Amino acid sequence: MPRLNEEINRRRTFAIISHPDAGKTTLTEKLLLYGGAIQLAGSVKGKATARHAVSDWMELEKQRGISITSSVMQFEYDGYCINILDTPGHQDFSEDTYRTLMAADSAVMVIDAAKGIEPQTRKLFRICAMRHIPIFTFINKLDREARSPYDLLEELEKEFGIGTYPMNWPIGCGNDFKGVYDRQNQQILAFQEFHRGQNRISSVACRLDETEKLDELIGERLRRTLEDDVELVDGAGYDFDLESIRAGLLSPVFFGSALNNFGVEPFLKSFLEMTIPPLPRVSNGKTIDPCADSFSAFVFKIQANMNKAHRDRIAFMRICSGRFQREKEYYHVQGAKALRLSQPQQLMASDRSIIDEAFAGDIIGVFDPGIFSIGDTVCEKGMDIRYEGIPSFAPEHFAAVERIDTMKRKQFEKGIMQIAQEGAIQIFHEPHTGVEEILVGVVGVLQFEVLEYRLKTEYGVDIRRRDLPYELIRWVSGDNVDIPMLNLTSDTKWVQDFKGNNLLLFTSSWCVDWALQKNPGLELKAFNHND
Ligand code: G4P
Repeated sequence: MPRLNEEINRRRTFAIISHPDAGKTTLTEKLLLYGGAIQLAGSVKGKATARHAVSDWMELEKQRGISITSSVMQFEYDGYCINILDTPGHQDFSEDTYRTLMAADSAVMVIDAAKGIEPQTRKLFRICAMRHIPIFTFINKLDREARSPYDLLEELEKEFGIGTYPMNWPIGCGNDFKGVYDRQNQQILAFQEFHRGQNRISSVACRLDETEKLDELIGERLRRTLEDDVELVDGAGYDFDLESIRAGLLSPVFFGSALNNFGVEPFLKSFLEMTIPPLPRVSNGKTIDPCADSFSAFVFKIQANMNKAHRDRIAFMRICSGRFQREKEYYHVQGAKALRLSQPQQLMASDRSIIDEAFAGDIIGVFDPGIFSIGDTVCEKGMDIRYEGIPSFAPEHFAAVERIDTMKRKQFEKGIMQIAQEGAIQIFHEPHTGVEEILVGVVGVLQFEVLEYRLKTEYGVDIRRRDLPYELIRWVSGDNVDIPMLNLTSDTKWVQDFKGNNLLLFTSSWCVDWALQKNPGLELKAFNHND
């Protein structure tokens, strides 16, 4: 099927990750501009202009000026069909952020040149590394004072245990930022700074051996530094190796300034050349070729009431193989039911359009009447595909919640179950105690606020929340483990999730070590594969 192969091979699906404020939203918008997907840049959530970034959705996130939900954007560029998965930008991020990475084939990591690696980048990187997906680094804000590029690269290599390959090399920074040296084309791209608020960026191409022209462009001092830098980087750095890049072992690094649109298009072009089309995925130990004729997809995110104008719940699916057709009947494996996916949509932030077809690599949002759970598979009838790789990650913050109005039990239970099903929170209870309280675990504390807000606005329930001192939760496994008989520190709590899995809540890693040492045969896991 030549068209199928062609369509799938031109897909590039990547997640964009960063610590808040590194410039992810600005870079995303510039990328969308190149694809003609948006008309106007500068819709970055400007505090001054009160305009919101195209990827901001929920009321709460607008109020706080942060992105809570991950969004998906598709655009065309240079013959490629690109899907960008945006990940929440606040440090209080949720499991959604992790799951979004499960749906991506590669990741772009945006780093602030003055700050280097920050906590959220570190967390997200670990998930990318776990999947061995290619990671491209964009070091942003070179128009401001920045750390030495050598330092930044060394930090990346040391902290992440990967190699780096600078694709370009910055010439100065801050007021002195003159541009970059493009190592592959061996030419200088010069940056001309703001002029009365107008960006005047021209990329003047100039070779390293055109000394006079260079001196005019960047000055003698910077020209000499650049010559030394290029010699050093060429001599002492990693060699360019596409195979290592695609295996996630070597990260190509680009220096630039997203706000000034400097280095964004060259980044996009070389990123597209190097990154990979949709990857095969594993189901029941079997590898499924993305270009296989038959359609399959998995749900990586469920979201309710994304938009007040559409009161609904949307399941986001990553297509893993074949072609999706709107009119066709498919099979929901976990529900063991045939179904038509109603109103399949592709999303451009809050704008949606109904689509007739989509291909492996694409993300579609479908109307969910409450049948899907995270990790579910939808495929052709008669097939039994179950994709691996949407684990539940251990929450890091815990609270006990109860409703304030005792009359609203039904709404409370329905609301909290639904929100848990969407994967925004995890819920637990204490077995055999008769205690009715629900324990909620979240990856980022902001999810508590989201829970409170949503229960109130969508289900009309006010809740009382009591934060708990636990920091770690572990799924219990191992042979013949009798939990009440375990030797545990007195502050360790036994809980169960709503599938009946046993877990232990700990106040510190010291208590986890105690449990493991005192109870041979006990196994504790930091994440759990949903089945
Ligand atoms: P995020 O999504 O990673 O959280 O970051 P975002 O793009 O919102 O950028 C954070 C701030 O950094 C914004 O400023 C943005 O304008 C600025 N920024 C992004 N890229 C660059 C760059 O290349 N150079 C410089 N100098 N600044 C950059 P803000 O003041 O928080 O918002 P705004 O009022 O400018 O919109």
